[in-house]
Amino acid sequence: MNDPKIKKQIASLRQKIRQADYRYYALSDPEISDKEYDNLLKELKTLEEKYPGLVIFDSPTQRVSGAVSSGFKATKHKIKMLSLENTYSIEELKSWEAKIKRLLKKSPGLDYLAEPKIDGVSCSLVYEKGSLVMGLTRGDGESGEVVTANIKTIRSLPLKLRGDYPESLEVRGEIYIQREDFKQINQQRASRNEPVFANPRNAASGSLKLLDSKLVSQRRLKCLIHSFGWAKGFTFQTQKDFLAKAKDWGLPIDARSKNCQDLGQAIDYCFKLEKERESFSYEVDGMVIKVNSLKLQEELGATLKSPRWAVAYKFAAHQATTKVKEIELGVGRTGIITPVAILEPVACGGVTISRTTLHNFDEIERLGLRRGDTVLIERAGEVIPKIIKVITSKRKGKEVKIKIPSRCPVCSGIVEKEKEEEVYWYCINPDCPAQLKRSLIHFAGRGAMDIEGLGEAAVEELVKQKIVNSLVDIYKLKKEDLFKLPLFKEKKADNLISAINKSKSQPLARFLFGLGIRHVGEKAASVLAKKFKTIDNFFKLSVDQLEEIPEIGPVMAASVLKFFSNPKTKKMIEAFKQAGLRLNVGASRRLAPTATSKIAGKTFIFTGELEKLSRSQAQKLVEELGGKWVSAISKNIDFVVAGQNPGSKYRKAQSLGLKIIAESDFLTLAGRR
Ligand code: IVH
Repeated sequence: MNDPKIKKQIASLRQKIRQADYRYYALSDPEISDKEYDNLLKELKTLEEKYPGLVIFDSPTQRVSGAVSSGFKATKHKIKMLSLENTYSIEELKSWEAKIKRLLKKSPGLDYLAEPKIDGVSCSLVYEKGSLVMGLTRGDGESGEVVTANIKTIRSLPLKLRGDYPESLEVRGEIYIQREDFKQINQQRASRNEPVFANPRNAASGSLKLLDSKLVSQRRLKCLIHSFGWAKGFTFQTQKDFLAKAKDWGLPIDARSKNCQDLGQAIDYCFKLEKERESFSYEVDGMVIKVNSLKLQEELGATLKSPRWAVAYKFAAHQATTKVKEIELGVGRTGIITPVAILEPVACGGVTISRTTLHNFDEIERLGLRRGDTVLIERAGEVIPKIIKVITSKRKGKEVKIKIPSRCPVCSGIVEKEKEEEVYWYCINPDCPAQLKRSLIHFAGRGAMDIEGLGEAAVEELVKQKIVNSLVDIYKLKKEDLFKLPLFKEKKADNLISAINKSKSQPLARFLFGLGIRHVGEKAASVLAKKFKTIDNFFKLSVDQLEEIPEIGPVMAASVLKFFSNPKTKKMIEAFKQAGLRLNVGASRRLAPTATSKIAGKTFIFTGELEKLSRSQAQKLVEELGGKWVSAISKNIDFVVAGQNPGSKYRKAQSLGLKIIAESDFLTLAGRR
């Protein structure tokens, strides 16, 4: 147990992992590959499991605690967490400077630090003897909630500081979710019929308050440190000094933080970043300008609400007012009725907005929205526009209240809520053509059976002409059926038939996902397929068998059981089998050998937004074709795939002289064009 050799080995592994974290998160300059990193962590975990007496609370393995918290305790902040005074124009910034210059005894030439105001949730982190011992939310500024276990899941935050850190230290920062991760989280939630988050800030704040830190770790929270509370046995001269030290200690700081020699420079920098903001990986709602000298900061002090030495310059929000012309009702594949506001087209944040989802009828009630109302809409970053509020003063008296429909707008089937506490209303007619269309599109989609050519337009036609009346009907399609439709000429019909045939050997996971079982997303489908291997096993399942799988919760288990105990499901699966679908875990699509050879064995990294594929689809494609993808830039990468608005990885790739290709080139390599 106390074998010094083991102790030394464990200490050395921890040191290597911390060094790798520092290179990756603090310096953005990794020295080892993701695989090497995973191996180190695996080795450490194995040793710690074998020698539990040697586990320490700030070991790199301790990011996710096993325990589920029953609530959060509140604790007082040693130094109050204030907020910032907002300004919206150069004039206001100038009068802020004039005011602080008046307050300072001597009126020195002031230099500033200007940096993005990240739209996230603020937090306070306490390090004792270099170890992260407490993480707090801001709360009401006086006291916050202790969310240490959740904060420890943030990989960019060191559990142990490096170098000559102070004996005790409190730093403050912003916890956020990157746009790309936010999109994926919402896609996943939508596929499980869970309500989506309105913006990355809400997602970050909701995640930080989850009671199970295992779930938090899946949310990929990030943190950047922007200020400090107190440091025992340590002094800094300037804000810039603090950030440099914080970086040395391994804390993540924003590389966009810039020392500006006067307010004019700071204002120029604000304008520059305002123009570039859409390309940042995180959302910003403005800039923060801080007096650099800590001595002067102290002299200036604070009002009850905010420090006098810092000010926020808020970017123009992407907001506009317009009228709600109509409420359209959409019917999804599970029957959910989604109200959509049809707007008088209006320019907002550089694009024209003419419709926006209202998600559900509770949202209509919350807003107090009526047809004909004038509303304020906002587009945060690239996120879908949202109605923020109704401008009731603009009402003319002709606005019409919006009723929950009692009948489906497409098939006139009965509309019901599944449970009283749910927010969604469903059309419960299983033969509803709108549901059939959505189900077909989902089934044929990229994450599922991936039938190229069976998109929205084709499905619309096939359902309208009653050629396809169920999912299985896809496999009964003949070329002659397609010729009847204006959409299909010789080549197109051939291509679709061959794509349909190809899809017959898709693996079980894709098929399960494609069936659109309520609450079963892509990940769950893959777990289920791996576990139960053939479709027939799903008809013999028990609740216990399902619930013993860590990734499957009771709601999903009940939904899977209900689906497979329905006699119609049995009939449908039999029909799929008859049609020649393989439906086992190993079934796999054969890819053209030329496509395989170009990606196999190569390492890819993605930066910026892709158009044709989501990032996760692109990464999956690389894996399927025998390649590897990484998220940290290094010289070992064969191809950098750059989408719209690429980030810092792009610049690094250029400086390393890596091969940078466009999404279209990537698709060609993958044999998808
Ligand atoms: S400095 C007030 N710097 O904005 C104490 N704050 O509206 C000094 N924020 O609660 C804060 N990015 O959480 C500072 N670069 C940044 C920031 C930042 C975001 C948040 C912060 C604060 C809020 C004030």
